[in-house]
Amino acid sequence: MRAHLITYGCQMNEYDTHLVQSQLVSFGADIVESVDEADFVLINTCAVRGKPVEKVRSVLGKLRKAKEHRPLVVGMMGCLAQLEEGQQMARKFGVDVLLGPGSLLDIGKALETNDRFWGLAFKDELHDHIPPPPTGKLQAHLTIMRGCDHHCTYCIVPTTRGPQVSRHPDDILRELDTLLAAGVQEVTLLGQNVNAYGVDGGARLGGYPSFANLLRLVGQSGVRRIKFTTSHPMNFTEDVAATMAETPAVCEYVHLPVQSGSSRVLRRMAREYTREKYLAHIADIRKHMPDVVLATDIIVGFPGETEEDFQETLSLYDEVGYDSAYMFAYSARPGTPSYKHFDDLPREVKTERLSRLIAKQKDWSARKNAGKIGTVQEVLLRGDAHDANFLEGHTRGNHPTVVPKVMGITGAGIYQVRINHATPHVMYGKLLDAQGNELPELPKHNPEAAALSAPLAMA
Ligand code: 5AD
Ligand code: SF4
Repeated sequence: MRAHLITYGCQMNEYDTHLVQSQLVSFGADIVESVDEADFVLINTCAVRGKPVEKVRSVLGKLRKAKEHRPLVVGMMGCLAQLEEGQQMARKFGVDVLLGPGSLLDIGKALETNDRFWGLAFKDELHDHIPPPPTGKLQAHLTIMRGCDHHCTYCIVPTTRGPQVSRHPDDILRELDTLLAAGVQEVTLLGQNVNAYGVDGGARLGGYPSFANLLRLVGQSGVRRIKFTTSHPMNFTEDVAATMAETPAVCEYVHLPVQSGSSRVLRRMAREYTREKYLAHIADIRKHMPDVVLATDIIVGFPGETEEDFQETLSLYDEVGYDSAYMFAYSARPGTPSYKHFDDLPREVKTERLSRLIAKQKDWSARKNAGKIGTVQEVLLRGDAHDANFLEGHTRGNHPTVVPKVMGITGAGIYQVRINHATPHVMYGKLLDAQGNELPELPKHNPEAAALSAPLAMA
């Protein structure tokens, strides 16, 4: 079998694609890079906003056409597969395999069946399963929990991914060992709300550490860098901030979605905190980590959001001074409480507010990044940048960073970089040696210099 996988959505989906892909490989499948080469195409879907849903619809349309000309098995997995909306789409477009986010390990059974296979159950065995580490990569994701016990009124995730189920710490640490043995240096702990780890349905699980203690355990493993995402502000307790500060491997980076700066909107979103409470959490975090890099998620144009409410979001942005933000126009999702109870605002209002917010974010990111000029940052380099004269990577604070190539460094590893230039999205710098001196750059490779640079590089 030649399988091609397409992924939409969040890092959880990327992890799940990797998990299913590794199952397919264990059944003898070849993973191919395009739909044209494949006889099985599996789409990992996202249902959190309308746009990714429409993308899936258009891909399914194309695949139905392709099926008219050649034998092709089409599969759909992930959040949309769990919803009636997705199942209707699957029927309409002749999808053969449907796997909800809790049934991913049914992929084997699905492929053995000659008939249509739809798996929609939530199974615990998913948590015991350890996918092999990604080959040759320094970064990896590690799922520590699935689902969500919150009920934010705009969000479809509690419906698609079900209630929160924490993964047993032994399984997490075993997976961490396989990652470390494969050379992984940065691990991102994943979950819808990682800070609530070990407290499922409001009850602490026996034998499960708190999230702060899990961070300590992972910190003792020898992994160089630890990140985690995502956190609900109400579960971000001060002991987590204190543990982050005390555990050297944990990066000084916090992604704390605020969604809105207006307490009135937050109440309608059922976020369980006010503007003031959120700001108190930020103050706690900064008390323990004064230089923390802060990112957030914001929804503009939630039903009933007035210009005054939106102004409060803008002023909260200034009050916190985020380093970066993921910003979205509210998208009404069938099946969510806000879809049922509130009227959507006109699209023009939402887009106009979104562009004002994006302007603010750019301004802050430019200032924050410019403030890093002259500092030394620890950068995990992945390999060649778009321009092969440069290497790219990211800092502990998740800033994409680009450096010119130097002799002896091929690009995979963690290095010290002095920042000398910054844009709102990218920082630029020079690689340093152990004494903090800039390493000599390789001559730039362009057609004229090519003949010259090859012998120089070898010298
Ligand atoms: N409309 C717009 N954005 C949404 N998000 C979740 N649901 C919606 C929706 N219905 C955003 C939130 C969340 C991020 C993953 O997606 O900001 O934090
Ligand atoms: Fe959705 Fe809220 Fe749960 Fe996040 S915390 S997944 S926004 S319900």
